[in-house]
Amino acid sequence: MDHDNTDKPAPATPGVSRRGFITSVGTGAIGVAAAASLVSAAPPETQADVVAAGGMSSVSLVVNGRRHTMLVEPRWSLLYVLRDRLGLTGTKIGCERGECGACTVLIDGKARYACMTLAVEADGRDITTIEGLMTGEELGTTQQAFADEDAFQCGYCTPGQVMAAESLLRVNPSPTLDEIRQGMAGNLCRCGAYAHIFKAVAKAADLKRQGR
Ligand code: FES
Ligand code: FES
Repeated sequence: MDHDNTDKPAPATPGVSRRGFITSVGTGAIGVAAAASLVSAAPPETQADVVAAGGMSSVSLVVNGRRHTMLVEPRWSLLYVLRDRLGLTGTKIGCERGECGACTVLIDGKARYACMTLAVEADGRDITTIEGLMTGEELGTTQQAFADEDAFQCGYCTPGQVMAAESLLRVNPSPTLDEIRQGMAGNLCRCGAYAHIFKAVAKAADLKRQGR
């Protein structure tokens, strides 16, 4: 299932949707193979050499309404920047290869895998993490619905699930169960709490329609 929850053509929003990632794996593998042959032909380099050669880029990220201007290495993922540079550890590290959805955030309002998005790609974008759904100490509507419906066991996948649900409900405020299943298909739950997760998404939709 496409992680941007629409049937529209892929937008200019950076990041990799689940479907987009899967369809690009073939060309990516070719690229990796080519890069590997180039690396093997190049003289040995230290990690510091690689960083110095890569240089740093200035990016400006608006995260949860607050602008952060910083220098980043070209190889840094948005996931790394959010967690390790900005301290927003609500976004979780799972597979780090676009398979599990634990790292899901909103970029310009659409669910994206932060592990598959370079920080430089997110330059100038509006990013929302799980922390950004709260108002002070108060849970956001979707977060509250997950709590009310016991939509987690270990809870590790939950931030990503909540962000995927947010994305879905912004596009489709009254999803059917099938639409919820499809909208959440890019997020895996190893505890198998899917039945409760789907109920929580439906409840969040109800609450949002009531203006809560
Ligand atoms: S950690 Fe990003 S998809 Fe798994
Ligand atoms: S609640 Fe444990 S992985 Fe989903």
